Amino acid sequence: MSSISTENKKTFALTTPLYYVNDLPHIGSAYTTIAADVVARYHRLRGHSVLMVTGTDEHGQKIQRTAEALGRPPQEHCDTISATFADLWQRLNIRCDRFIRTTDPRHAAIVQEFFQRVWDKGDIYLGHQKGWYCVACEEFKEERDLLEGHRCALHPNKEAEWRDEQNYFFRLSAYQDKLEALYQNQPDFIQPASRRNEVLNFVSQGLQDFSISRVNVEWGFPVPADPKHTLYVWFDALLGYVTALLEPEDEPTLSNALAKWWPINLHLIGKDILRFHAVYWPAMLMSAELPLPTQVVGHGFLTKDGHKMSKSIGNTVNPVELVEAYGADAIRYYFLKEIEFGRDGDYSETRFINTLNADLANDLGNLLNRTSRMVHKYFGPQVPGVDGAAIPADHPLKSVGQTLGDRVAAAYDSLAFSEGCAAILSLAQLGNKFIDEQAPWKRYKEGDTEKVAEILYAVLESVRLAAYLLSPITPQLSTTIYQQLGFSINFDNDSLIDVDLPFATHATWGTLPASQSLSEPQPVFQRLEQPKVSGGPD
Ligand code: MSP
Repeated sequence: MSSISTENKKTFALTTPLYYVNDLPHIGSAYTTIAADVVARYHRLRGHSVLMVTGTDEHGQKIQRTAEALGRPPQEHCDTISATFADLWQRLNIRCDRFIRTTDPRHAAIVQEFFQRVWDKGDIYLGHQKGWYCVACEEFKEERDLLEGHRCALHPNKEAEWRDEQNYFFRLSAYQDKLEALYQNQPDFIQPASRRNEVLNFVSQGLQDFSISRVNVEWGFPVPADPKHTLYVWFDALLGYVTALLEPEDEPTLSNALAKWWPINLHLIGKDILRFHAVYWPAMLMSAELPLPTQVVGHGFLTKDGHKMSKSIGNTVNPVELVEAYGADAIRYYFLKEIEFGRDGDYSETRFINTLNADLANDLGNLLNRTSRMVHKYFGPQVPGVDGAAIPADHPLKSVGQTLGDRVAAAYDSLAFSEGCAAILSLAQLGNKFIDEQAPWKRYKEGDTEKVAEILYAVLESVRLAAYLLSPITPQLSTTIYQQLGFSINFDNDSLIDVDLPFATHATWGTLPASQSLSEPQPVFQRLEQPKVSGGPD
């Protein structure tokens, strides 16, 4: 095995939102985190040095009240819920490099230093805040955006509360021009285009300063300049992305935190928290005179059977139950294949089962199984002795396979997961069609072993390529397929992945070594039979 120097590698740092610990993780939080893990795994395959950050957002009134209602000390409550997030990420086979909790004592030092910079800049002042506050959003709302009875559109069962108090404000209005220039000069800063337009529209209406402190909320950091006030949870939470970058042995200073991984390449978020990431956050960083992240991508919302998921309707999807019933790969694949990233998407268990059976059990898994059986029968357990590179470029599978790596890479680069999956699957579908048309079993009887060897090689190689390119999404399935094809590798072994499985070789059609010993053919993806989670087809 050759060793690759970790110096001079391109770095890629990405984040999920830091999830509120008011409740157990739900499928929406799982969705963002799966997508982030897929991006991280893709960059590791490309040989980049990757840092994936996730974590929990633990301060503020919402958490304080939840803990009070449960009669638990807030820190104890946070510890309990935060652990359920870490546990779910393990179950979903998510390999985060950092899990930051905003109650981490090191975070306090980073927040304090950052606050001081913004304070010294003259961008914080004491003012008066009057308005409707949605505790569930932890955000002031414009009266015109509220439903009847001052209920919040995102939390229709909760009334916004009237606030009339002294707060410290951040001078967001001073950054209007700079923000507009940012969106203009870096058109990709906010993606997809629909979200970008939303932000441009909001900013063009004129930015107002926003309050960054609260009175009557104890659960949070005291404002350094005036400890009677507690720092607004969002001011503290966004800075969690910075604290997360500290190495374990680092002193918690901004310069240490920013030394290696800053600026972050990608913030992945849901559309409801776009304003915080695409407007407030860059303005805060401008004020502190720090470089800005490269991109903010806001995905859509998930619904269940066409309806908004909500506890009160009782139609939420429990990700732990889902993963126990179907395994991590199935969930990862469904959400990324079935929903165009950026748009809203639906979860229905019937569709879930149908998609997995059609794509992974039949098109891909069964193709490998039937081909591998024929290889065992006709040639013993060895990959037929065919040189993939010598197969003509217009071969039906090679002609598609040889451009697939680049097409799928482009899809991953632009977070078009669904498009990438469809392109990969189409090679498997073509493989099935090819083998049916070529009928190697007939040719074998006719004694045309050379042709049979080429047909079977071409199909196995196409399955291998599909498995490799799918591996950021279905690492376990891809490992199983690779092992059946005689490789002794594991797509979960991050530290070796770019050494053992270099993209330049493995994303190219024709890489399967002839004469490599195949393992016993066994189904690589079990067909899913009955709905197991919501009790029946919908
Ligand atoms: N704590 C803040 C984020 C701070 S980041 C510095 C927060 N937390 S959250 O737990 O409420 O939401 C986290 C993410 O889950 C958001 O990106 C939100 O869009 C996403 N989702 C919540 N419900 C969702 C769906 N039904 N579908 C998809 N994503 C959803 O906001």
